[in-house]
Amino acid sequence: MAVRFLISVLIISLVSFTHAYDPDPLQDFCVAVNDAEAKVFVNGKICKDPNMVSADDFLFRGLKMPGNTSNPVGSRVTFATVDQFPGLNTLGISLVRIDYAPYGLNAPHVHPRAAEILTVVEGTLYAGFVTTNPIDPNVKNKLFAKTLYPGDVFVFPKGLIHFQLNLGKNNALAFASLSSQNPGVITIANAVFGSNPPINIDVLTKAFQVDANVIKYIQGKF
Ligand SMILES: *[C@@H]1O[C@H](CO)[C@@H](O)[C@H](O)[C@H]1NC(C)=O
Repeated sequence: MAVRFLISVLIISLVSFTHAYDPDPLQDFCVAVNDAEAKVFVNGKICKDPNMVSADDFLFRGLKMPGNTSNPVGSRVTFATVDQFPGLNTLGISLVRIDYAPYGLNAPHVHPRAAEILTVVEGTLYAGFVTTNPIDPNVKNKLFAKTLYPGDVFVFPKGLIHFQLNLGKNNALAFASLSSQNPGVITIANAVFGSNPPINIDVLTKAFQVDANVIKYIQGKF
């Protein structure tokens, strides 16, 4: 009886484990058709007729050019997810190029559907992530951070808040792979202070333990 129970628990945990990631493909490939008119909702994108698929569907040339970093944070992420690169559909992976101006920041954000592995190509980055809230309220959320140089690889676990700051006076460049064809991104500051419509100020004054004028000042930046 106990053995049977254990086996059931094991099976349930295995099933839920596989469902925590992008679903496995059930064919060699399923190049996405971008049909804005499609009203049928599938988990991913519908497949192009395999006879119409060519090598071009598996090629993406959109990461060659540096992104425009002339913005308040001084960084730009250029995406190669399924929306830009239909050949990724059902494969459970995607790629981004991140350009940083001198002292530029890829601001704290999360990917709800993907872990991320980042490789530095140029420059020096201070990169890190913070754990989920600890069970014990007296223990703080833990920061794991490192200074990274060209060739260094750092991993950001799925769903955790992470960031990279260019420490140098020259441009920096990194590429990062993500474990989803559609990782999603929530930039913390934009989501909290720049939502449309804005979050009620009483929510933010309590959450951040500051006066309303501080919240209004920050909201004004978004
Ligand atoms: C980069 O972005 C800035 C600000 O949006 C814009 O003024 C500038 O023309 C852009 N540069 C290029 C090369 O697109």
